[in-house]
Amino acid sequence: MSTLMHQAVKPRGAGGVVMGWLLESGDAVQNRATVDALDPPPGAAVLEIGFGPGHALQMLALSHPLGLVAGIDHSELMVARARHRLNGRRGDAALDLRIGDAGNLPFPDEKFDVVFAVNSFHQWPDQAGALAEMAGVLKPGGDLLLSIRDFRVAGRFEPPGNGADTAKIAAEMLKDLGLQVRLREVVHSPARATLLVRGRKCGRAEA
Ligand SMILES: C[S@@+](CC[C@H](N)C(=O)[O-])C[C@H]1O[C@@H](n2cnc3c(N)ncnc32)[C@H](O)[C@@H]1O
Repeated sequence: MSTLMHQAVKPRGAGGVVMGWLLESGDAVQNRATVDALDPPPGAAVLEIGFGPGHALQMLALSHPLGLVAGIDHSELMVARARHRLNGRRGDAALDLRIGDAGNLPFPDEKFDVVFAVNSFHQWPDQAGALAEMAGVLKPGGDLLLSIRDFRVAGRFEPPGNGADTAKIAAEMLKDLGLQVRLREVVHSPARATLLVRGRKCGRAEA
């Protein structure tokens, strides 16, 4: 794996600071498309896995009246940066950003109205285990959203269509967890799209 790819998986040190800037600008359209697809109820508790510099969490908190903005990222540097970004700039919501792993979420079952991840799912060593954790901390009736980047031309970071394959795998994993799955794409340009894989957890009456 190249140094750049290593930094994208776990930003650290001076290179990690640069990676934070790159993520900030490079993932802006994807973060916006993802936040636009989320519809948390007033006072909602939201959780992002792999939040990086915290851009999506901030956009969500500034566009919806949230009760709790929470996140897990295994990069100490990204947790520090996101805390700084969200400090005083998240409406009235409480803040709980922690260092941790997608595969082991330190939250009680059924705590969150919305759980999501942007451009991070493809990096998790145990994707099925992490999705099971995410589904576990989601309230009945809540949404789990995976936002997956899809390049449609060759020569950038990964082969074209890679994201589409990843999204199909994610959708099957969410179905296996008993979630109701919908797949949507947002096309940003002829070269790039965001694939949104949404799994809705059955409400209590439907269970
Ligand atoms: C490519 S960055 C994306 C950051 C942000 N979501 C964005 O779109 O700008 C991936 C992020 O996921 C985090 N990450 C990767 N694998 C993880 C894991 N297993 N557990 C927790 N965080 C993880 C990385 O530290 C990094 O901050």
